[in-house]
Amino acid sequence: MKPFFITTAIDYTNGAPHIGHAYEKVLADVIARYQRLKGGEVFYLTGVDQHGQKVQQSAEKEGVAPQEFVDQVTAKFRALWTKLDVQYDGWAATTEPSHKACVQTLLQRLFDEGQLYKAKQSGYYSVRQEQFLTEKERGADGEFGPEWGEVVLVEEENYYFKLAEHKDWLLGLLSQRPELVMPNFRLAELTNAVNKLEGDLCISRPKSRLTWGIELPFDPHYVTYVWFDALVNYISFAPGYDAAAGADLAEFHKWWPALHVIGKDIMIPAHGVYWPIMLKAIGFSDADIPTLLVHGWWNSSGEKMSKSLGNVVDPDALADKYGAEAVRYYLVADIATGKDSDFSEERLVQRYNVDLANSIGNLLNRTLNMAWKYRAGKVVPGGPLQEATEYWRIRTNTLVNDYAQSFEIRQPNAALEAIIGFATNCNAAIEKGAPWKLAKEDDPVSQRSLDGILYTLAECLRIIAILLSPVLPKAARGIWDQLGVAGEFRLVDGEWGGLKDGHQLGQPVPLFPRIEIPVNPQNPVNPV
Ligand code: ME8
Ligand code: MG
Repeated sequence: MKPFFITTAIDYTNGAPHIGHAYEKVLADVIARYQRLKGGEVFYLTGVDQHGQKVQQSAEKEGVAPQEFVDQVTAKFRALWTKLDVQYDGWAATTEPSHKACVQTLLQRLFDEGQLYKAKQSGYYSVRQEQFLTEKERGADGEFGPEWGEVVLVEEENYYFKLAEHKDWLLGLLSQRPELVMPNFRLAELTNAVNKLEGDLCISRPKSRLTWGIELPFDPHYVTYVWFDALVNYISFAPGYDAAAGADLAEFHKWWPALHVIGKDIMIPAHGVYWPIMLKAIGFSDADIPTLLVHGWWNSSGEKMSKSLGNVVDPDALADKYGAEAVRYYLVADIATGKDSDFSEERLVQRYNVDLANSIGNLLNRTLNMAWKYRAGKVVPGGPLQEATEYWRIRTNTLVNDYAQSFEIRQPNAALEAIIGFATNCNAAIEKGAPWKLAKEDDPVSQRSLDGILYTLAECLRIIAILLSPVLPKAARGIWDQLGVAGEFRLVDGEWGGLKDGHQLGQPVPLFPRIEIPVNPQNPVNPV
């Protein structure tokens, strides 16, 4: 199995983390944990984007040095990932000296090779988006819309990267390898944008305007444009990469190309246009262009979350209130990868109570209580029940396959749906089999049937725990503890028959106590 390298966007440290940040980190964490479950080597890189005008402005407003400002905000991000059990292997922070050196080495090389040039530009500049605006960005009324924030007329000399030169190459690549963009409905959008590509990319900012950035190695009057700096994190923090040596390194190649998990707002132009062209220009081959997994947005009542609307959800407060696993579950269960979803605290509570407390928690509790009541907690496969056992063996086999297929197309929501549907079937099988009736019959056939049911339920729960573990690592461990099963979670152990004849179960403990906290719509978990 090829080692798996997964990254997320690096979050801007100009404010506290919000629910969109949490979703992306959890989504990538869940995919990384699934890959580990399959037994492959995994490297999960995430981090923070610490340079740029927004940070400089926020630091000025607070009257602290930019480094101090980003250090404080970065600490909040790291604490949140720990709280949410986001298990990353590498941490990318763009103020790290090694990253700066990498960016400078690459810039110098591009400069020496004639890929960068200096030119004068005058035009409208969006302070918020840190980019020059063209006629395309004007709205129907001829004005630049509110999404651009403050727009100022700027005339200055800057350095440009020869982007447009690579347009045909990128169009060719996208048509040959449509799988580079997931879900595939995003590909048309990207191809469209590349078709419209004209002009080069301004990769510098004069220090008179912005000092909080990486100095250009060939001109100390400028710093690097924040996107050129930020995108490089994917290689500067990749295992084994060395800008001076180029990309031909065994350790780096063991991992590369990456799967980049990003939100839909940063596909065009940053990740879909700039990044592949940057890689091409520094010598990466077509086979080494990374794949984009583009997720959608969490909105609030159909509207974009924003500080000014006061509808930003604070994931930290949410985790304190409901627990990390409830938040993780909601964030991957209630959105299809690629689509948008509306955030609702009521939905979080409802899905936890219905899917986890009622369905899985109940199944576990009933199974253990019956096994203890009728069999002192020991399970033995039922003798004459070959047919029924065969049914459940096939049923779990199908479940594991459906689950894996959903994960392979990066739709953990569908994988969870399959598990919950299966647990619901198990609960229905208890009603149908009525173990409490069988227990009262002392003929051998009834007693063997009872054995068969109890074994089957325990075995189904053992497999459910394996499958839940990427999303709910603690709860999955809790299920195994109660079943008296130890060891690492591995997908191959999702095969039927793992519990041995006479296996001793553990004691039942409520695993998903129902959430009874009333949600006050007047006072939800926001704003940040
Ligand atoms: O864009 N729902 O950082 P960022 C889902 N520093 N995802 C959301 C979201 C929401 N409501 N809001 C934001 C940046 N995101 C750059 C990235 S990468 C080299 C540099 C996602 O803090 C967003 O789509 O604005 C992005 O993928 C990530 O959060 C960081 O956003
Ligand atoms: Mg953003």
